[in-house]
Amino acid sequence: MDLYEYQARDLFESYGVPVLAGIIADTPAEARAAAEKIGGVVVVKAQVKVGGRGKAGGVKVAKNADEAQAAAEAILGLDIKGHVVKRVMVAAGAQIEEEFYFSVLLDRANRSYLCLASYEGGVEIEVLAVERPDALARIEVNPIKGIDLAEAKRIAIEAKFPAELVDKVAPVFVKLYEVYKGEDATLVEVNPLVLTAAGDIVALDGKVSLDENAEFRHAHHAALEDAAAADPLEAKAKAANLNYVKLDGQVGIIGNGAGLVMSTLDVVAYAGENHGGVRPANFLDIGGGASAEVMAAGLDVILGDPQVKSVFVNVFGGITACDAVANGIVKALEMLGSTATKPLVVRLDGNNVEEGRRILAAANHPLITIASGMDEGADKAAELAAR
Ligand SMILES: Nc1ncnc2c1ncn2[C@@H]1O[C@H](COP(=O)(O)OP(=O)(O)OP(=O)(O)O)[C@@H](O)[C@H]1O
Ligand SMILES: [Mg+2]
Repeated sequence: MDLYEYQARDLFESYGVPVLAGIIADTPAEARAAAEKIGGVVVVKAQVKVGGRGKAGGVKVAKNADEAQAAAEAILGLDIKGHVVKRVMVAAGAQIEEEFYFSVLLDRANRSYLCLASYEGGVEIEVLAVERPDALARIEVNPIKGIDLAEAKRIAIEAKFPAELVDKVAPVFVKLYEVYKGEDATLVEVNPLVLTAAGDIVALDGKVSLDENAEFRHAHHAALEDAAAADPLEAKAKAANLNYVKLDGQVGIIGNGAGLVMSTLDVVAYAGENHGGVRPANFLDIGGGASAEVMAAGLDVILGDPQVKSVFVNVFGGITACDAVANGIVKALEMLGSTATKPLVVRLDGNNVEEGRRILAAANHPLITIASGMDEGADKAAELAAR
């Protein structure tokens, strides 16, 4: 789960990472009030979970409350890479002397943590990493030892911080690592970390991703979740414990196992080229136990998507045999009753496939078409969606 900047700011503050005052606002009037409360120069910042806000016009300096209100008017409603701004943070303005970069992240390939740090932050770090890789220090962090003060100093030196700054930034690195470790994060990134005219080190921006697998250890993480911003169908699927991702197409997809579902998306997109370019409407993996309840929950989510015109159920029977899946589909349609109105193409294969197909054929449901293979099923589903 990715956090908004203001949530990262609050988390940083609770760990003693130096940050500036920041108040969230959902309207220009609230932004004005926030600017008055903070006083002096403020920066109005779009709160969206996507990078490059500054370049997209989502970060504006305001010298007073009037300007803060105007800045919020300009930023609220702005579309930044497909994310519409619903909230801004009004932050105290910093007098920046220098901008640095620091992050800790989970390095899956090396089964450890990785720290990236640079004396030259503020710019697009991806560009720096490509054009001048030696300016960005990459330091493996031992997950057992973590980043203590000595290690933090070593990182600062490797990142080419001048000697007089090493002692200043190192304690902040230690605190940022404490956030990473303490919150079970997979990413803590600060760009820019700055040196102010007053000589202080401050985190002016924050990106934090939390590991959802560790949610049970952090009761407060649930409150950070942004249910309003999540797609309502995705929220419904999550409540039913389904792995669902909404896509833009017209053919609803249900499969078991992430690999099979992904290849189903491919064959449907490919088949769709012959039917006016219809595409998959979602990713939905119902996992191993394709019971009637799970199937009904999956169908309920998919049929609730108004873009869906047909559904392709592609299941390979393994531990859960095809007859159980077939019964699940038939019962699911009974449970859904009149809410199920869209045609279903079902392809079953694997364990006990004959019996599964027999059950579907016997049910003789007007919405169900049985396909004998994956390509045939994809083609049929695409054709039905294109009608
Ligand atoms: N509180 C502040 N006071 C002064 N300047 C700021 C403040 N916050 C941000 N800035 C300036 O604006 C620049 C962009 O801000 P920030 O890093 O928050 O957004 P961004 O990098 O454009 O967005 P993202 O990190 O999402 O890509 C910073 O590099 C900094 O120069
Ligand atoms: Mg930034």
